[in-house]
Amino acid sequence: MTSLLADPEKNGYPENMQDRLFQDPDLVQFYDPDNGWGDDTRHCLALAEKVESVLDLGCGTGLLAAALGPGRDVWGVDPAEAMLEIARKRPGGSTVTWIQADGRSIRLRRRFDLILMTGHAFQCLLTDADQSALRETIAAHLAPGGSFIFDSRNPVREEWREWVPDLTRRVFDHPELGRITAWNDVSMDAETQIVTYETIRAYPVNAYTYYMLGAANHLSRAR
Ligand SMILES: C[S@@+](CC[C@H](N)C(=O)[O-])C[C@H]1O[C@@H](n2cnc3c(N)ncnc32)[C@H](O)[C@@H]1O
Repeated sequence: MTSLLADPEKNGYPENMQDRLFQDPDLVQFYDPDNGWGDDTRHCLALAEKVESVLDLGCGTGLLAAALGPGRDVWGVDPAEAMLEIARKRPGGSTVTWIQADGRSIRLRRRFDLILMTGHAFQCLLTDADQSALRETIAAHLAPGGSFIFDSRNPVREEWREWVPDLTRRVFDHPELGRITAWNDVSMDAETQIVTYETIRAYPVNAYTYYMLGAANHLSRAR
């Protein structure tokens, strides 16, 4: 990991560092079936009820932004084109301005009543330098009296320890491939506090054979 930059802690991770989990269409097609509305996104939907403009940073496949779009000025920003591709096509997608960009450096020259960063997108900011750059983006885009809402895992809880096959095995339906079984596996670098996890997905080809879909390592910050 450290070979990518002389000092990622000081400089942050390179913007062109690709996270296959979000960039590869073969993997991204599982994002919506495996995720969806949760308490967090429903809470943000309610928070946005009275605001006129929203910036969704790390908007992913755009579930939340597209629901907020009608009747508001909503912008969705994400570095992953494959995620935005789904966002543009979803119902309500045409009501949102989608921008492919990195949340650390984007400058839209406009301000928003509400800035959101949901689904632990904040954990994709791997170093203090990355988080600091994100804070500058927030300062540059928040309207006076506006709010920035983001979620972050509680580091004390060390939730990543549970991202192992036996505790993460789940089943969901994919619109074309049918019933999918998925699970995660994880490792943590104690020095950098960066968690690397992969999601493995399998679907039945026939009664005897499962087709395993290639997993991509995904980096996430533990603290
Ligand atoms: C787990 S997904 C969450 C997507 C969406 N917010 C949700 O709640 O479903 C994390 C998203 O953060 C995006 N992301 C990663 N690094 C980012 C960065 N530097 N700036 C903005 N978004 C980033 C990824 O491309 C991915 O779409």
